[in-house]
Amino acid sequence: MKVFITGGSGFIGLPLVKRLLEQGHEVKVLDLQKLDVEHENLEFINKSILDKLSEDVKGSDIVYHFAAILGVDNSDNKPLETMKINLEGSVNVFKSVIEAGVKHVIYVSSSEVYGEPRELPIKEDSVKGPVSTYGVSKLAAEIYAKAYTREFGTDIRIVRFFNVYGPRQSNNFVIPIFINKALDNKPLEVFGNGSQTRCFTYVEDAVNGILTVVGKGKSGEVYNIGNNKPTTVLELAQIIKELTGSNSEIIKAGFGKETRLKEREIEYRIPDISKMKVLGWKPKTMVKEGIKKIFEFKKKKD
Ligand SMILES: NC(=O)c1ccc[n+]([C@@H]2O[C@H](COP(=O)([O-])OP(=O)(O)OC[C@H]3O[C@@H](n4cnc5c(N)ncnc54)[C@H](O)[C@@H]3O)[C@@H](O)[C@H]2O)c1
Repeated sequence: MKVFITGGSGFIGLPLVKRLLEQGHEVKVLDLQKLDVEHENLEFINKSILDKLSEDVKGSDIVYHFAAILGVDNSDNKPLETMKINLEGSVNVFKSVIEAGVKHVIYVSSSEVYGEPRELPIKEDSVKGPVSTYGVSKLAAEIYAKAYTREFGTDIRIVRFFNVYGPRQSNNFVIPIFINKALDNKPLEVFGNGSQTRCFTYVEDAVNGILTVVGKGKSGEVYNIGNNKPTTVLELAQIIKELTGSNSEIIKAGFGKETRLKEREIEYRIPDISKMKVLGWKPKTMVKEGIKKIFEFKKKKD
């Protein structure tokens, strides 16, 4: 197959690119960041998702749209730029795909679209109430994706990832922050009392999930892809402290302007993954094991 991936140089995009190349597909990656892989079946396009793309995507069997500005704090610091890239950029990708006659698209969305859930576990059709610019931008692009599916019959499937982690994740996210601090024996700070629950999803499970949706999912459908075993942020700090053998103290940091506004913090986040289970997918790597894999990766790199 001829596969086109926006944001394919990124943390989740790159392992997918590698997997698709192993499977013998021809892959084009569009990203602003250089791709650190070379392969005879791989082409890199150094462009923005805001640029004209229809000629680039023409002839692709499927487009995976990953490119985005990430992070709750990061996007709240630059709301207009976030909306521009995540919403206008996504609409541009969908329009280019339709113009070029590409039939299949996967839009990569986020559990941030739900905000603080009104029910647990969170189902795909649970109430959406994003509380960050990032969450709003991802939800707005989903709404366009659904409208384009209805209007043009393009098969756009949406996956909502829940807190993906693994090797190469940017240092702004909680697992790399805790690992780096623990390795330096610096304090690990949890916001509030650290009781926030997250379902940390190992990156290879996320890649397996998206490929399952491509193979067995349905047009216009939305799928939660996440680990359904919750871990509190305090437990996460304890696990990382134990695995690193660190002397770090675990500190409970209050909410506030200097740390994290309470209104921006989601207390509970657990996905209902029954739709993915019906397709034959479930997460395989639990959080302790996933963190050990990050250490193995770091050792190989050094
Ligand atoms: N990491 C997570 O926990 C998580 C959770 C839910 C959803 N997601 C979604 O998964 C996708 C990938 O996230 P990631 O974690 O790999 O992040 P990442 O930042 O590593 O990857 C994003 C990629 O997009 C590229 N990019 C940014 N702006 C661009 C532009 N204007 N034009 C072209 N490329 C551009 C970046 O260079 C980067 O390579 C995003 O859509 C994100 O919203 C991630």
